[in-house]
Amino acid sequence: MKTIITPPTDEAIKRAGEILKGGGLVAIPTETVYGLAANALDETAVKSIYSAKGRPSDNPLIVHISDFSQWGALVEAIPENALYLAKEYWPGPLTIILRKSALIPTATSGGLETVAVRFPSNETARRVIDAAGVPLAAPSANISGKPSPTKARHVFDDLNGKIEMIIDGGDCEVGVESTVITLAGEKPTLLRPGGVTVKMLEKVLGKIEISPAVLNKLETGEEAASPGMKYRHYSPKAEIVLVQGSFERFRSVLEENDGAVALCFDEDAEMLDGVKSVTIGAEGDFDGQAHRLFDTLRRLDDIGAKKVFARLPKTDGVSLAVYNRLIRSAGFRII
Ligand code: TXA
Ligand code: MG
Repeated sequence: MKTIITPPTDEAIKRAGEILKGGGLVAIPTETVYGLAANALDETAVKSIYSAKGRPSDNPLIVHISDFSQWGALVEAIPENALYLAKEYWPGPLTIILRKSALIPTATSGGLETVAVRFPSNETARRVIDAAGVPLAAPSANISGKPSPTKARHVFDDLNGKIEMIIDGGDCEVGVESTVITLAGEKPTLLRPGGVTVKMLEKVLGKIEISPAVLNKLETGEEAASPGMKYRHYSPKAEIVLVQGSFERFRSVLEENDGAVALCFDEDAEMLDGVKSVTIGAEGDFDGQAHRLFDTLRRLDDIGAKKVFARLPKTDGVSLAVYNRLIRSAGFRII
């Protein structure tokens, strides 16, 4: 299959709508990461997402809408707290899980009785949903296990020849996937941190639960509230190890490991004489770190890094999302 890569012209959006109506796959920009979209209500189309990505079939997809009015049909009911949350943060990088309606095929919900819905703010994403005329299931447009794509080129590197079309909308603004919260259980629970922070959620909901999988590795046999949390993720070819503690400690670990690459903050790099380093942003700039994280992980492969030591991010605000992705890319190895 020849993959078309195109800017978001009117003609391209129209063509994307036709491909999606016909059951095909189109990669689209969103404000978080690029998504690999298919008609969320078409079981066969959704199954082809799983095969293009090599994604395990029990890992459910997020359903994307372009207007509040499309939400009601996808879920059993919209409780008041969900409505308040959506009013505050939609359109934007927030995914809300509720009990699903009969419209949602099993393939989309990964066999669960719930469905994740998101209303993206990216204009191109919304235009494509409108052109398709149906809600779109869209996981991140990467090969399963690799870092999520934040540039059209990342999508091309992973999926060229496997999908009909990639719409190039430039770099994704947020850079990490949406915040995922479930309102389908007894208490509102954060399943994946993202651009909408815990503090922002608690402003609307009061105290929320944080799924243990956000910060820690699940024990073998422990059930994941969010199936995506249990898989190896965001991994470049290099082995990554996170280093807890001060910069001095970090520097001495690198001195002991000849040839290792440093994954660090901008201000660290200047003080690492003779060490190859890639940076993810200034230490205090959490938004900037989120924006660059996945591109930086992919760059490690480009420079042929084998062993990488990384500074440990903080866990407040948006940096909780950076921490959550980075510990997964390191397979939870922290020294
Ligand atoms: O920002 C995003 O959310 C991007 C863009 C493309 O919108 N999409 C994305 O999709 O990150 P994906 O498939 O890579 O991640 C979806 C996550 C997975 O961890 C999945 O397990 C979880 O959401 N999820 C989806 N539906 C769920 C459900 N019903 N219950 C629990 N977790 C669910
Ligand atoms: Mg993903």
